[in-house]
Amino acid sequence: MKALEGVKILDFTHVQSGPTCTQLLGWFGADVIKVERPGVGDATRKQLVDVPGADSLYFTMLNHNKRSLTLNTKTPEGKAVLEKLILECDVMVENFAPGALDRMGFGWDRVHELNPRMIMASVKGFGPGPYEDCKVYENVAQCAGGSASTTGFLDGPPLVTGAQIGDSGTGLHLALGIVTALYHREKSGEGQRVLAAMQDGVLNLCRVKLRDQQRLAAGPLKEYSQYGEDIPFGDATPRAGNDSGGGQPGRILKCKGWETDPNAYTYFITQAAVWQKICDVIGKPEWKEDPEYATPDARLPRLGEVFSTIEEWTMTKTKFEVMDICNPLDIPVGPILSMKELAEEPSLRDTGTIVEVDHPERGKYLTVGCPVKLSASPVEVVRSPLLGEHSDEVLAQLGYSADDISGLRSAGAI
Ligand code: COA
Repeated sequence: MKALEGVKILDFTHVQSGPTCTQLLGWFGADVIKVERPGVGDATRKQLVDVPGADSLYFTMLNHNKRSLTLNTKTPEGKAVLEKLILECDVMVENFAPGALDRMGFGWDRVHELNPRMIMASVKGFGPGPYEDCKVYENVAQCAGGSASTTGFLDGPPLVTGAQIGDSGTGLHLALGIVTALYHREKSGEGQRVLAAMQDGVLNLCRVKLRDQQRLAAGPLKEYSQYGEDIPFGDATPRAGNDSGGGQPGRILKCKGWETDPNAYTYFITQAAVWQKICDVIGKPEWKEDPEYATPDARLPRLGEVFSTIEEWTMTKTKFEVMDICNPLDIPVGPILSMKELAEEPSLRDTGTIVEVDHPERGKYLTVGCPVKLSASPVEVVRSPLLGEHSDEVLAQLGYSADDISGLRSAGAI
């Protein structure tokens, strides 16, 4: 039995943040019924299209293990179906623009009245406050949550990251909120509202940067490269390039082939515990005893020189050779892996982290499988549903007859 088997999710999500959440719940065994507008569906089905006529990868990669029910919830017939779904389901998940559910007539008060056990989970851009009515997409959240101001190089503009911490990150937060609320409901019998605001989710992931903001009051941040470069600190956590951000200094360094390969780099951490081994590997044994280099504190003002010297060595090796040499010595390094390399990595296929899926419209494609592995609830990735593929099935399970269903169809409700 899957961990969430028996849990029914009324999935009103679209685009990325909400679908990330409900896909996870589906992977863990919940029955996820994705409600989509008839003839239209989730907008991402037709965004970034690579195979004409087929659902896009944007959609398919975020909507595995779900059933699709088309329903126009603005028609009286559609509203009646939605009411039945609310009575049947355990969790309703949505990431509409603020106010959309109220306009539809299914705000929290109504949903709670219909089904007091229902957990109603929402992603919004912002929590209560001055921006609560704003529509928000990924990069806006990265900017408003503190990520952009702390990402990039000191002499460049703020940067957004490739990791979708605003959308997918908030979806992850929401999934945790939902299973927590389900656990609470087991004991209390009561449903509740769960809100994950994208700004809050991003800020949570940028927690260490708020740490550094407060540390600034005690003086310059010595582990930031700019300290050794004598660049004064301002009044806010600065951008720190590829500095490690933790107590063990690290940087991205060039490896053999960097002139032509944009990913011929390694991350290299000068962990204090293995400093002596690093000195031997890079051909600087004299640094082991030299008081200017022997201790972490002594090295902080000269990190530029230390990493340039290590880079002279890494540039003579490929990123994988660096890994092969440093790993047995417990020196923490990591190759910069491209999406191409990750897609082709056999060990990720073996663990189900990268999965090949077959789709009736588009054929085979790769997706990222469930990143969390439960030993008693293994995940089987099932292709995303076609628009309305399960409408008849879901409606029949709700008690609608074949005649009822064709009536709903002719009324434009499904
Ligand atoms: N039947 C009938 N109407 C439906 C429907 C259905 N099955 N599903 C959606 N709709 C309607 C909504 O009720 C809404 O109508 P209204 O504006 O007349 O009240 C309309 O479709 C559009 O929904 P909305 O959420 O506003 O979509 P959008 O494309 O305008 O905005 C976002 C997209 C993502 C900006 C917005 O949904 C949002 O800010 N969401 C919260 C934050 C978030 O999750 N952002 C990240 C997305 S990855």
